[in-house]
Amino acid sequence: MPNGFSPALLVLRDPLESDAGRSTSVNSTTGKSTSANSASADSVSGFIAVDPDSPVVSALDLGVTRGDGIFETITVVNGMPQALDAHLHRFARSAAMLDLPAPQPETWKKGVFAAVDSRPTVDEAFAKLVYTRGIEGSGIPTGWIYLQQSPDFTTERTEGISVVLLDRGYASSVQRTSPWLLQGAKTLSYAINKAAAREAQRRGADDVIFVSSDGYLLEGPTATIVLKLDDTFVTPRTESGILPGTTQQSIFEIAAVNGYGTAYEMLTPADLRRAESAWLVSSVRNAAPIREIDGEARPIDAGLTEAINAGLAARTI
Ligand SMILES: Cc1ncc(COP(=O)(O)O)c(C=O)c1O
Repeated sequence: MPNGFSPALLVLRDPLESDAGRSTSVNSTTGKSTSANSASADSVSGFIAVDPDSPVVSALDLGVTRGDGIFETITVVNGMPQALDAHLHRFARSAAMLDLPAPQPETWKKGVFAAVDSRPTVDEAFAKLVYTRGIEGSGIPTGWIYLQQSPDFTTERTEGISVVLLDRGYASSVQRTSPWLLQGAKTLSYAINKAAAREAQRRGADDVIFVSSDGYLLEGPTATIVLKLDDTFVTPRTESGILPGTTQQSIFEIAAVNGYGTAYEMLTPADLRRAESAWLVSSVRNAAPIREIDGEARPIDAGLTEAINAGLAARTI
């Protein structure tokens, strides 16, 4: 990492600004509200910049004690947050699924730019937006943005990754039959996703593709699956209880511009095995070609992957 980049941390000043006329600021460590009517430099973005090492979350915050909250991770390439509106749209969708007060997109957008502007421009950074239900009983959410330089994913992007297929234990109808399981929301409850990643490591693989109990491909613990089948880019239908991926959406736009077909389908492990190319795609790591499935090698298309990742890095919105 180049010298001079230290993380930035911004705390949401007025979490309930959606309430008409409300003008309070909440100390997220104590949960106490204070008047914040007076304009200040901080109120320009709606966030307050704090020392990244300072404690900003209470031990009583439901985000910490219950994983009750949501997040987004947004890639910032050369100072340009990628797919920002798509991420904020999904942030609002996740909040609605958890019955959290609606996050204000303009405030969060300004917060992201304030974080980015506060640091030197680097090739790749990421902004993590976190929004929790706040201190138990307060009814006031907690929010913050953390900006950090991204790890180097060159190896994953160029040499590919090995994956194992793991049963997620839910049917592909779970979102419709059991919406309280919050499949398809980007919640802070990622302990299962982390456990699955550790299971992959135990099996000697880099990553996971979850399969539904009725046999359909779903997603990775932190990524969307994209296949190239007969010159069409295909991804699982989001109705199957998976997160709608912003990177996948961008890849579909890039593919369409380049004359490829795109489709959302119910896909099976057999489709994955017969695909001309397969990737796990996500913000920050971007497109990582799959070179091995359950110990079985498969070809990667290095040129196409490079073109996709170049297209992703060139996004200006
Ligand atoms: C479960 C899950 N699916 C898919 C994705 C990919 O989403 P995006 O491309 O918007 O980063 C993520 C991202 O973290 C994820 O956690």
